[in-house]
Amino acid sequence: MQIYNLEFSEAEVRQAAAENRLLSMEIEFSRVCNFRCSYCYVEEEGTRAGELSRRELRELIRQARELGARKIIVLGGEPSIYPHLREMLSFIDAQGMAIELFTNGSGITPELASFLAEKQARVALKLNSRDPEIQDRLAGRLGASALIQQALAALRGAGYPSRERFLAISTVICRQNIAELPALWQWLRREGIEPFFEVITPQANALDNDWLGVTPAELKTLFTALAELDQSQFGRSWTPQPPLVGNRCMRHQVSCVVTASGEVMPCVGVTIPLGNIRQTPLGEILATSQVIADLKNYRQTIKGECRDCEQAAECYGCRGAAYQLTGDYLASDPTCWRNAGGS
Ligand SMILES: C[S@@+](CC[C@H](N)C(=O)[O-])C[C@H]1O[C@@H](n2cnc3c(N)ncnc32)[C@H](O)[C@@H]1O
Ligand code: SF4
Ligand code: SF4
Repeated sequence: MQIYNLEFSEAEVRQAAAENRLLSMEIEFSRVCNFRCSYCYVEEEGTRAGELSRRELRELIRQARELGARKIIVLGGEPSIYPHLREMLSFIDAQGMAIELFTNGSGITPELASFLAEKQARVALKLNSRDPEIQDRLAGRLGASALIQQALAALRGAGYPSRERFLAISTVICRQNIAELPALWQWLRREGIEPFFEVITPQANALDNDWLGVTPAELKTLFTALAELDQSQFGRSWTPQPPLVGNRCMRHQVSCVVTASGEVMPCVGVTIPLGNIRQTPLGEILATSQVIADLKNYRQTIKGECRDCEQAAECYGCRGAAYQLTGDYLASDPTCWRNAGGS
């Protein structure tokens, strides 16, 4: 099974974690977005006030590199409409680090796609449904589906996907798309595009929009069906476990997130501010954080079913879901079907 941060091997992840090194850092250049996704963890934010300056971003990226990071994962907000995107991506590239960009596609013109291809940026393009009505509703914006399709065409025109030009489709699992996901998965595999399907973390907008919700039993059925399909049709073998389909989330071992205002957090779901890079160097924040130590040491610290589970060596569920639903980032993941009595 692959690990989130797909290109790093399990041995690399374990070694980096043991040596307290990063392998990647997730970063937000800005939280401003032109979509209003019904499930998004980013609260609506219309202004760039208080955002890190380009000088601060460059310093942060340098610090991440010194801590071992080999890749910067760009989140947001919507990076493709951030005015200094190319400058910042060029800086990451010049530091010898790989780029991974999560995008809703709206600013991916043929020119930007060529720029990304030249930098061999890894791109994860949002696509929650191939039905335009469903896609637009989930994105909270009429015409979102058309923008995504234009972005896909621009990326294809620039040579995505290929060996050097990794392309994933990022999809959240919800009531509106769950029935079409096996077909979407097959289509993506045939196209050479990596499916990045994930369970919605119950936070922010997702909590207000319970019409999105699927049950743990439905998640189990979907994960199992996709595992069988991937094995029988594409020869890929993996164990179903939340929160990523065909993937393991072990990001706290080797990554962290820094928000647009400089707050460091373990990940976008464990929204515990550990410190701000405007006051304290990133390395010091990470090295002195009990939360990070607990998460890295999960085999000893995880509680409940996740502690006793037969999968425990390789899974700790979604720490974000545990934190958001129970207030304890070490609690058992309440969204897992095993916890809901559906082993
Ligand atoms: C916040 S977005 C920022 C980048 C870009 N705007 C996009 O949508 O890809 C980063 C990723 O988080 C995912 N995401 C947002 N809210 C989520 C939630 N509540 N649970 C799980 N994933 C979520 C999005 O689908 C996207 O793949
Ligand atoms: S998921 Fe991405 S595109 Fe959607 S509202 Fe959040 S930041 Fe914007
Ligand atoms: S109970 Fe916890 S460790 Fe076991 S599969 Fe579910 S999330 Fe993973």
